[in-house]
Amino acid sequence: MPIITKDNLEFISRSPEQTCRLGARLGRYLAGGEVVALEGGLGAGKTVFAQGVGMGWGATSRLVSPTYVLVRRHQRHQDSLDLYHIDLYRLNSAGEVEMLGLDERLGDPDAICLIEWPERHPALFPPEHLWIHLRMLDEYRRSVVFQAHGAHHQAILDHFRQELLGL
Ligand SMILES: Nc1ncnc2c1ncn2[C@@H]1O[C@H](COP(=O)(O)OP(=O)(O)O)[C@@H](O)[C@H]1O
Ligand SMILES: [Mg+2]
Repeated sequence: MPIITKDNLEFISRSPEQTCRLGARLGRYLAGGEVVALEGGLGAGKTVFAQGVGMGWGATSRLVSPTYVLVRRHQRHQDSLDLYHIDLYRLNSAGEVEMLGLDERLGDPDAICLIEWPERHPALFPPEHLWIHLRMLDEYRRSVVFQAHGAHHQAILDHFRQELLGL
């Protein structure tokens, strides 16, 4: 059973497809200004979830692991929003953060930031964000915990929960 409080939602996924679909449901609500953190160890399903987000949002290019590029930009046909898929794993210094222009992108109303390995640079996050923690329970099961911070991300989580659970 999902654990539910107002700003928190837990879901158990039983397959990569289900995690992808979960991401796709969330992706439909991202309309600019969102900052979404995807925390979880190697193989937890961060990239699978991100791929679903890209699909639900309508990205014209498939999201792939951003590891060696650090930031990949995606777009969609219906508007001029940018979706940035970011990997902080190899990011070492504040200088690199600045070089990638992450400060300006995080929270930009014309951009959505989807960030893997957020726990490497927690100070980077603005107060308004959605923090998602994926955890490997066994080979195919993943716990996915959503934690909303700030009114806008809370509203998104409310819609998402409503659609997912009818609550
Ligand atoms: N329920 C599940 N959700 C997501 N991935 C799963 C699940 N069960 C098995 N997997 C597998 O776990 C791996 C997750 O990979 P990936 O999304 O790249 O992880 P990360 O980006 O967190 O390192 C994939 O090989 C996927 O097939
Ligand atoms: Mg990954």
